[in-house]
Amino acid sequence: MKPKVLLIEDDPNDVEIFGRILEEEGYEVTSADNVDQGLTLVRNEGNDEGKEFDVVLTDLDLKGPTGREGRELVVELRRSKPHLPVILMTGLPLRSGDPTADIAIDVIQLGAFDYISKALDPREDKTFRADLAEMVDHAVASKQLMAGLQPRPDAATEDKPAADKIVGNSRVMQNVYKEIGRVAATPVTVLVRGETGTGKELVARAIYSHGDRAAQPFIVVNCTAIPENLLESELFGHEQGAFTGANLRRIGRFEQAHCGTIFLDEIGDMDLKLQQKLLRVLQEQTIERVGGKEPIRVDVRIIAATHRNLELAVEENEFRQDLYFRLNVAVISLPPLRERKEDIRDLVEYFIECYGSELALRKQADGTFISMIQHGPKAAIEREAVMCLEAQSWPGNVRELRSVVRKALVLANGYTITTDTVRKALDQARPPSPALQQPFATLVGSVLASAKNGERENVIADLIEVVERELYGEALRRAKGDQSRAARWLGVSRPTMRERLLRYGLHSVRERSTD
Ligand SMILES: Nc1ncnc2c1ncn2[C@@H]1O[C@H](COP(=O)(O)OP(=O)(O)OP(=O)(O)O)[C@@H](O)[C@H]1O
Ligand SMILES: [Mg+2]
Repeated sequence: MKPKVLLIEDDPNDVEIFGRILEEEGYEVTSADNVDQGLTLVRNEGNDEGKEFDVVLTDLDLKGPTGREGRELVVELRRSKPHLPVILMTGLPLRSGDPTADIAIDVIQLGAFDYISKALDPREDKTFRADLAEMVDHAVASKQLMAGLQPRPDAATEDKPAADKIVGNSRVMQNVYKEIGRVAATPVTVLVRGETGTGKELVARAIYSHGDRAAQPFIVVNCTAIPENLLESELFGHEQGAFTGANLRRIGRFEQAHCGTIFLDEIGDMDLKLQQKLLRVLQEQTIERVGGKEPIRVDVRIIAATHRNLELAVEENEFRQDLYFRLNVAVISLPPLRERKEDIRDLVEYFIECYGSELALRKQADGTFISMIQHGPKAAIEREAVMCLEAQSWPGNVRELRSVVRKALVLANGYTITTDTVRKALDQARPPSPALQQPFATLVGSVLASAKNGERENVIADLIEVVERELYGEALRRAKGDQSRAARWLGVSRPTMRERLLRYGLHSVRERSTD
């Protein structure tokens, strides 16, 4: 099926020119000559032979009957159709500092997918045509990503929801989708960075499934999970008799991935000797089996991921600088969940949908199960409960959120998830930290040691959380649940107090109070 483009242009000449170009580039085009007509078409999409637009391409400077401009279209569509990417065309070449550039930057900030300046002779200008087609392709890929990839046939489990869908409409995630769109169709090596549980593997899979190697193998190697001495043979294979126990020749992961993609997860944990060999693969596209004499040519696209701070690892001579430079070309950085709290609601609803039907089974007196999804209220969540989730700091990011939602679903037993349920689920997921029971200096020492090993990244945030949780909880306990008094003692405002109590689930402290 051809991707469907809605072209909004008030100049009939341009409608003709751009419409023709887009059709020649393989898109199906519908046109409108002002913002209102464009919006009506978008609103009615689906009525007209299922015509759901994939991309909107609009002039920035429209002079329609109501005088609404491209800018307003972006705002309106962003609100009503957050998944529908809008590309703006500007009349003049953009130079930074001139007002058009300001407008363009402004509309990107409002949520336009991208912008392009019209060429003087668009039909003849090959670069312009190629740029436009590429931009539209990225936008289409980005929309499909947001709408979710096709569910995979394997069943949902604790670690894998049934689909590889990436959920989240925050600005930072929109940028991630754009980046995925940009790199997917190219052969470049991509490095995916981000804290644990931010979705690095999900992104790696999305890059793979949106690229032209999607029909070829996708091989995952977790560099941490395989013992160091075995990793080389795992990656590159070995010849018979290469070492004691190598009774047969073994084909390594790189050879298996030939013509396809290899995902090197936790590459920051690879040992230095192997890093050097990997660098050679990147430079020469050849591998050598352990004990082998001939270099073997491999055509493999590499996607790597790490949660480690590679710059620090380079500084401490734990990661080769030359490999770092090779990898640090196309980088996709996934923001931690606490920096995109606006995604939490969508994620929660998504996880409820993923796990809701699986868990909302009620045992009846006769021992059989009925699904509350069909027979009772559909699993839902109270607004306050979502707010409580939004107030958390999520050191384990999306993975942690998913596990809390799953626990809450079990606790809610098919009924609406309340704030209380969420608190219980949070308590279960994070048993009260024993951290402060040890002397503070010991705590600092152990936290810094694990940071040095790359096991932790947000040392300050983590420690502040430990201290705050203790302070707020203890103050409230001593104030016998009187929040105003506790806030006064701590020197914080009432709103701050309320926010922290929500964040740390300390509302019920008074009931637990013993004095
Ligand atoms: N944006 C998202 N939308 C939906 N699910 C997500 C999203 N991000 C992460 N997840 C889910 O959270 C879990 C963890 O994601 P993933 O394994 O990709 O994280 P990671 O960054 O590779 O973590 P780690 O560094 O611990 O390996 C997965 O089940 C994944 O499906
Ligand atoms: Mg991972």
